[in-house]
Amino acid sequence: MLEQLESELARGRAAFEAATTLEELEAAQVSVLGRKSPFGQLQRGLGSLDEAQRRTVGARVNAVRAALTDTLEARRAAFRDAADSALLEADRIDLSLPGRRPRGGSLHPLTLVEREVIEVFVRLGFRVVQGPEIEDDWHNFQALNIPPDHPARTMKDTIYPAIPGRTDLVLRTETSAAQIRTMQSQPPPVHIVSPGRVYRRETSDATHLPVFHQVECLVVDEGITFAHLKGTLEIVAKALFGQSRRIRLGPAYFPFVEPGAEVGVSCFKCDGAGCRVCGNGWIELLGSGMVHPQVLENCGYDSERYTGFAFGMGVERVALLKYAIPDMRMLVENDARFLSQFEGVA
Ligand code: DAH
Repeated sequence: MLEQLESELARGRAAFEAATTLEELEAAQVSVLGRKSPFGQLQRGLGSLDEAQRRTVGARVNAVRAALTDTLEARRAAFRDAADSALLEADRIDLSLPGRRPRGGSLHPLTLVEREVIEVFVRLGFRVVQGPEIEDDWHNFQALNIPPDHPARTMKDTIYPAIPGRTDLVLRTETSAAQIRTMQSQPPPVHIVSPGRVYRRETSDATHLPVFHQVECLVVDEGITFAHLKGTLEIVAKALFGQSRRIRLGPAYFPFVEPGAEVGVSCFKCDGAGCRVCGNGWIELLGSGMVHPQVLENCGYDSERYTGFAFGMGVERVALLKYAIPDMRMLVENDARFLSQFEGVA
């Protein structure tokens, strides 16, 4: 029996070593150590030995089983290690590869410009107010001296929302309506700016959009003159486009002001000499004027006592000039390659 045990030990070790996969090793375990294996039979044969023999042979049986189990476990561990290494190898991360940086968003150029304009006015002590984008005909037209048949309506014709029971609603054509709402809600003095979106029935091109933004400014108090308008415009133009800019006023007609003035700023590229950006040296920036007495009266203000000035500036226009954007439509195309250029500008 002892000889048989030695040969089973040798056979078993050889079988475990010969296994090339975990499955082969499991099969070898059954054939070497299983109940029906020669070793198993030897183990059961112990019962038929006398006590002294059983002790000697039994000790050897235990030693052989321990030796075989050790070999088996060592082989099993080797297979497991190999499997682990293969997994690790498959999951290997190349730390020298550049990472993928998560893209942060940034403020839209229109937001940047609107905020910058507003900031200039806030520093001057102006209050910021918002008007509704869906206006009624009275605020958007009539109170601004644009009666139903006035030709100025044609230029600014807009979208009329179909709301049951209301035939007087328009998507506002200019932020000037906010002047009316402000004056109706408070007595003078007034110093407000009102930013917001406006709508016109217009085909978009490089310098026009049917939906765009304006910043409206209104000042009403006793003794407000054209000089106050001019001084404020100069401060705003310099703050937005640089201290060396000059402004120029020319006559213009807007139903809600008298007199009305169109305001240009000297070109930042050629400083007024004339170039490809500006043409004649000046860039038209906004419409302005002294608030028409009738508009003051429409809002319940005493036009004998109070005077005021107002102006309205196109935000897209300012953005095009400030950032040298060649086409207004780029502002609404949402092309990330365009928008990402404004990262970190604010
Ligand atoms: N609302 C005018 C426009 O959209 C701009 C404007 C002109 C605003 C004169 C004013 C103003 O407040 O006084 O073209």
